[in-house]
Amino acid sequence: MDKPLAGKTAIVTGASSGIGRATALALVRSGAAVVISARRKERLDELAAEIAGLGGKALVVAGDAGITADIDLLLDRALSWNEGGGKYDIVVVNAGRGLAGGILGSDESQWQQLYQVNVLGAAHLLRRTGQYMVERKSGDIVVIGSVVGKNISPFSGFYGSSKFAIGAIAEGLRREICPHGVRVSVVMPGIVISEFQDVAGYDAENFGKGIAQFGKLLEPQAIADGIHWLLTLPPHVNVNEIMIRPTGQSYP
Ligand SMILES: NC(=O)c1ccc[n+]([C@@H]2O[C@H](COP(=O)([O-])OP(=O)(O)OC[C@H]3O[C@@H](n4cnc5c(N)ncnc54)[C@H](OP(=O)(O)O)[C@@H]3O)[C@@H](O)[C@H]2O)c1
Repeated sequence: MDKPLAGKTAIVTGASSGIGRATALALVRSGAAVVISARRKERLDELAAEIAGLGGKALVVAGDAGITADIDLLLDRALSWNEGGGKYDIVVVNAGRGLAGGILGSDESQWQQLYQVNVLGAAHLLRRTGQYMVERKSGDIVVIGSVVGKNISPFSGFYGSSKFAIGAIAEGLRREICPHGVRVSVVMPGIVISEFQDVAGYDAENFGKGIAQFGKLLEPQAIADGIHWLLTLPPHVNVNEIMIRPTGQSYP
């Protein structure tokens, strides 16, 4: 079987669930070794066992994606992982969370933590991995944004603003480091059914009614397939942004 990512090592944050988990598995199936991170270590250990069952290689590094020291530890551990070749080629900046409600209605006590993970932690990871890839003169950085990071929605305005911010940071980074042979891509999912809705506080009342009209929603695999596609294009081709929505999602 063709394994286009054989020999590559990928770091995937937020790999204990949803899009991150599906992406880690997709990259492994394509031949990559993966460094998987999230706060729930037991979930990561289960995923590592599943990857080993597929004949793949995984390193578990549990930590908080909003804490600088944890991010630095993740990168140090990746570089000292012999089975990963002591290097990394791909970083999927995926860990993040939503928050139900607009600027008026969302829970303000969660605003700071949301920005700490979705923006500040992600930006630190982008900075460190960008510096490393510039030195190596190659690499791939994939940032998970959101359709509401391009089309702000009154139903999730504060969360959406964090995805606008990380999308801008990713594009700023791309312009800074693309001359060094490093690709940066922003993948913007529409509605994907995962643990995201529970964590954000969406329920049948504030979410279910609005989306009933959209038909079949996405599974995390659809986003993982998109990420795998752009990573396996020739090195001189950089898909800077893609939006992947359920076909019936007219808005946002
Ligand atoms: N689902 C959607 O409709 C949708 C749409 C657009 C964009 N997105 C974005 O896609 C990304 C993945 O979401 P998902 O749908 O896969 O949601 P999910 O199933 O809730 O997964 C979120 C992942 O992020 C990790 N995470 C959250 N906070 C963290 C923290 N402080 N430190 C470390 N890890 C943390 C979680 O792990 P732990 O809890 O174990 O730490 C989990 O692995 C997010 O950035 C989200 O904003 C999702």
